[in-house]
Amino acid sequence: MKVVEANGARIPAPGMGTWTLRGRQCSSLVAHALGVGYRHVDTAAAYENEEAVGEGLRASGVPRDEVFVTTKVWWTELEPARLEKSAEASLRRLGLDHVDLLLIHWPNPQVPVASSIAALNKVRARGLARNIGVSNFPTALLAEAIAASEAPLAVNQVESHPYLDQAKVYAACRKAGMAMVAYCPIFRGGSLFAEAAVADAARRHGRTPAQVVLRWHVQQDGVVPIPRTTRAERLEENLAIFDFALSDEEMRAISSLTGANDRLCDFGFSPRWD
Ligand SMILES: NC(=O)c1ccc[n+]([C@@H]2O[C@H](COP(=O)([O-])OP(=O)(O)OC[C@H]3O[C@@H](n4cnc5c(N)ncnc54)[C@H](OP(=O)(O)O)[C@@H]3O)[C@@H](O)[C@H]2O)c1
Repeated sequence: MKVVEANGARIPAPGMGTWTLRGRQCSSLVAHALGVGYRHVDTAAAYENEEAVGEGLRASGVPRDEVFVTTKVWWTELEPARLEKSAEASLRRLGLDHVDLLLIHWPNPQVPVASSIAALNKVRARGLARNIGVSNFPTALLAEAIAASEAPLAVNQVESHPYLDQAKVYAACRKAGMAMVAYCPIFRGGSLFAEAAVADAARRHGRTPAQVVLRWHVQQDGVVPIPRTTRAERLEENLAIFDFALSDEEMRAISSLTGANDRLCDFGFSPRWD
């Protein structure tokens, strides 16, 4: 495991993604993940699994202060009073008195950035979140959020994988001392794993394509991938990426795939991307 420092936050990488995991399966995967060494779990109010994530945390027996828990406020809840209520409800469902990171899940053009960022700071000042940040913020909105925030933002969580050029967002995050948390980090598998740059490196290192792509992420400063799997054995596979290294040439070959500019998460409410 690696720990990324981001404006005071210490964020373990990789983290465990939990979108689509529900109920007992979610709890047992969270407990298993912590048992095999994960120390970072990513959930959201919108995933409707915070109770299950909380149960998994408790079932693992790992002390609370050793786990970095992230949750998020949905974009319809960004008006200040609603944002605070959303954070309180998330904590109730998780069974926790604070999260380690609270994010605005998606921007909402109907709510001024400054007012939702002020509410996020209030939640932090109340001790409900140790760190705060945003998700799906392109660079112009990120600059607004950074300027409006009293406490430094720790993270911008965005879609990032070798098929998407996130150089602008990455540069903006690093300039502000923030981490870039990479969601859909393995592009949900598929064609990416068959790319020569990935498949050849996997063969050379005796690793799986998923491990090569995750290694590509963690080998970049300030990047925290959060892969998701429904299979316990893949949790271990996706963590076993710290006993080999990609050469500069291999890193460049994988990075050159970003020309595809292929985005998985794009919705009617998405902002205008960089
Ligand atoms: N902030 C946001 O707006 C946002 C948006 C999307 C996602 N996220 C977060 O990011 C997390 C990850 O994103 P994601 O779930 O969309 O995509 P992902 O992690 O890139 O891909 C997940 C898919 O990859 C497969 N997989 C996982 N490990 C594998 C391995 N070692 N070999 C082969 N296939 C493997 C999984 O299948 P199996 O289950 O069969 O293993 C699953 O279908 C989410 O769970 C969520 O926490 C955040």
